Amino acid sequence: MRRNFYVANWKMYKTVKEAIEFLNAFIPLVKDINAKDIAIAPSFVCIDAVGRNIKNTKIKLCAQNAFYENQGAYTGEISPLMLKALDVEYVIIGHSERRRYFNETDEIINKKIKACLKENLKVIFCIGETLSERENNETEKILNSQLENGLKEIEIPESIVVAYEPVWAIGTGKVASDEQIKEAHLFVRKKLEEIFGEKAQTIRILYGGSVSPENIDSIMAIENVDGVLVGGASLDPLKFSKIINHKQN
Ligand code: 13P
Repeated sequence: MRRNFYVANWKMYKTVKEAIEFLNAFIPLVKDINAKDIAIAPSFVCIDAVGRNIKNTKIKLCAQNAFYENQGAYTGEISPLMLKALDVEYVIIGHSERRRYFNETDEIINKKIKACLKENLKVIFCIGETLSERENNETEKILNSQLENGLKEIEIPESIVVAYEPVWAIGTGKVASDEQIKEAHLFVRKKLEEIFGEKAQTIRILYGGSVSPENIDSIMAIENVDGVLVGGASLDPLKFSKIINHKQN
């Protein structure tokens, strides 16, 4: 049985002060918080402060990115080793914004996933098609190649979470339809079984893209949806707590 997973991706929002204010408001709003599987991915500069402020809860600390070397002359980069030393448990790898604005290829993403796993960090591996790819009926082809290339030579499926985030649904308020989510998640589940066999059963598949308190009930009711990766709505303590407190929970 896969436990539902609720992940906040704060992207490039919140100063340290704002991050702490968020936690003070958010923690009391979540019903039965320690029975829930929740992770928060603040910016790198807030990681330490957020880590200290969630110490007494079971909320997991997540990073939004990591480099594929542990140390060296790589100005501006942050390594898996450094994240591990700050008690980070999860790292988001391959987010579409990293692919789009920072030219991350499947090959780079694969190197980053391997580097994180080597440091015993768990990975939230993001995949998803663009609008033109969907319109050209290439969704499955894209998901197939992102999964095959991103997960090449990876042997610890239990440390992987996959997030399906259709690029056209991110930050647009345009959530994918229940049918589109169902189809994509079934495709991903089958592909993971092809790659990892029975071990794929433990891999959770999250949906991301304009998740809100208004649509969470219907999204979580879809087969093979094991949680959500939330951007905009996770910045607001009330909205993110409403997402976690949704009806099936
Ligand atoms: P939004 O929830 O703002 O659409 O962002 C989704 C996302 O990119 C999470 O990683």
